[in-house]
Amino acid sequence: MRMYDLILKKKRGEALSTEEIRYMIRGFTEGSIPDYQMSAMMMAICFTGMTRQETVDLTLAMRDSGDRMDLSGIAGIKVDKHSTGGVGDKTSLVLAPLAASLGVPVAKMSGRGLGHTGGTIDKLECFPGFTTALTEEVFLHNVNTIGIAIAGQTADLAPADKKLYALRDVTGTVDQMSLIASSIMSKKLASGSDAIVLDVKTGNGAFMKTIEDARALAEAMVSIGTMAGKRTAAVITDMDQPLGYAVGNSLEVIEAIDTLRGEGPEDLREVVFALGSVMLQLAGKTSDGAAARRMLEHAIADGSALRKLAEFVGAQGGDPAAVYDTSLLPAASDTLTVTAERDGYVQRILAEEIGIACMSLGGGRETKESAIDLSAGIVLKKKNGDPVRTGDPLAVLYGNDAARLARAAEQVRAACKIGQTRPAHVPVVREYIDTVNKKTSIFI
Ligand code: URA
Repeated sequence: MRMYDLILKKKRGEALSTEEIRYMIRGFTEGSIPDYQMSAMMMAICFTGMTRQETVDLTLAMRDSGDRMDLSGIAGIKVDKHSTGGVGDKTSLVLAPLAASLGVPVAKMSGRGLGHTGGTIDKLECFPGFTTALTEEVFLHNVNTIGIAIAGQTADLAPADKKLYALRDVTGTVDQMSLIASSIMSKKLASGSDAIVLDVKTGNGAFMKTIEDARALAEAMVSIGTMAGKRTAAVITDMDQPLGYAVGNSLEVIEAIDTLRGEGPEDLREVVFALGSVMLQLAGKTSDGAAARRMLEHAIADGSALRKLAEFVGAQGGDPAAVYDTSLLPAASDTLTVTAERDGYVQRILAEEIGIACMSLGGGRETKESAIDLSAGIVLKKKNGDPVRTGDPLAVLYGNDAARLARAAEQVRAACKIGQTRPAHVPVVREYIDTVNKKTSIFI
């Protein structure tokens, strides 16, 4: 077999066989297939696409390129949750302790933020002393005893994807549906859970700008997961504006804690309840969406979800007191308020631009190596559709450097669009997909 022939085949739009895809991924991971040939292949895939079977084959070949987590030592049905990435997306910080408090074992590998999107590990590190560098033994022990552990990716999971993603990033080949679906699912399948719930974001701050593209990605990932033998479901949620009000690590932790205390923003609660309902059903805790929602609401109302967060933080070396006293979390020295320059209604708060403004404040990474300021970020004072008067606060910026604050203020001002008519309300939970080609919008 020669990579050259496979490139020509794909250029003609023909489907590659399982053996050909395995050969390609093995050779690329080992280094016998050079970057320039793989780049040509990726571009050919962008132009001619992949069949569902090819996408599954690519996913499984990448899943098998490195270690696979063995979670069989943990009792119960392990449900992993993955978000395709967004701005202000602190859902996992709320959902993980909430699900654990209801007896769903949470054994999760999380990542750090990059670019305009955040990552769960950075947020968790706001708790003084918290570590995600857990040995496998401690990780399994914590899930078995307190029901939850979140680790950084220590095992060499899906190394083929790591190498391929870096190549796609610099060759203009990231935004192809089959490549995105296989990339995400190869890592999820290697992480060893029994079931997977996917939060597929759509809108300005998401990879998938339109609902049609988000649906296609969700369907592709659901079908890959199902074909690989895992129960998989997806919820499509809005990322046309940031989720909740807070953007930036420490500020998002505070908002997540508020939500666990029953005081969180409506859109964040809706996303948490939608995903949580699916998690409880996939974990076999109930088969009824309404009952699942009641269970979730009860675990917040009686304080058990918040107590689970404190227990989890303590078990991973963090200070649980910070869960009850958020002044112990990193705090910025300065603030700057951005105000409305005219009357009207907020038409749009561009999520991606708000994420970039947070990065300007030091709250996000420009490259994988950048250091970040956990205290920096933005708290929005308005959401899409809210009425505003000239001089009303649109957002408060938190930072430690006057020049950065001034630059971010301009970016936030440009990201908040004010017009004369109230825009139509867009629900944050858009669709639920658990079977390809069957869509329902009501499930909780
Ligand atoms: N996230 C991933 O892990 N892979 C992609 O290709 C895109 C987003």
